[in-house]
Amino acid sequence: MTELNQPLPAPVPSQELRDRLAQRRSAPAQALAAPGPTDAELDEILTLGARTPDHGKLFPWRFVVLGPLSRAEIAEKLTVLAELHNRPAKHQAVLAKLTAAPVTILVVSAPVPNAKPIWEQHLSAGAVCMNLEHAAGGFGYSSSWITDWYSYDPQATALFGLTEGETVAGFIHIGTLTEPALERPRPDMAAKVTRLP
Ligand SMILES: Cc1cc2nc3c(=O)[nH]c(=O)nc-3n(C[C@H](O)[C@H](O)[C@H](O)COP(=O)(O)O)c2cc1C
Repeated sequence: MTELNQPLPAPVPSQELRDRLAQRRSAPAQALAAPGPTDAELDEILTLGARTPDHGKLFPWRFVVLGPLSRAEIAEKLTVLAELHNRPAKHQAVLAKLTAAPVTILVVSAPVPNAKPIWEQHLSAGAVCMNLEHAAGGFGYSSSWITDWYSYDPQATALFGLTEGETVAGFIHIGTLTEPALERPRPDMAAKVTRLP
């Protein structure tokens, strides 16, 4: 581990990294199966995920690691809560995405009040989600970033231990795919990029 305030090595070009980024693809959450990360791998994935820009060194997020037991228990309670929604069957069906993977990291956006703009703190939590996916990919795992209705229902978020002012940035499900993920449409870059002199 590099000491604080010590110079870091300059970045070197990496075709391997570029190839990884060019091929990165989310997994369908319900298709994620064992093996998942070991405890030591998970520790490293979390540490790499936390190595993310944030304005003001606030680290305005936290992680809840959810194994199969806790997810099954919570999913049972969510099945009941889903009855209170329109189209309960649809709300219940998506719970399959919550329980399939070997492990799930819930990224909680936990902005610090009266510090940097709240929007920027939420953006940092989103960046953490993406970094966790890259870190999981570094170990050869596939992953999926899911929110779904239970990220926005206060009774549901309480089941995951969220408190006042906290928001779900994402459930990052990690595991192994038995079949490669399919590609999906990618943006027309000419329509997305404006270049100014
Ligand atoms: C913040 C956020 C929330 C998402 N929530 C869901 C969700 O609830 N359900 C779902 O099927 N996909 C959800 N997705 C989309 C999946 O992660 C999707 O598979 C992914 O964006 C595919 O793109 P990729 O292959 O470039 O990773 C979400 C994506 C983001 C960024």
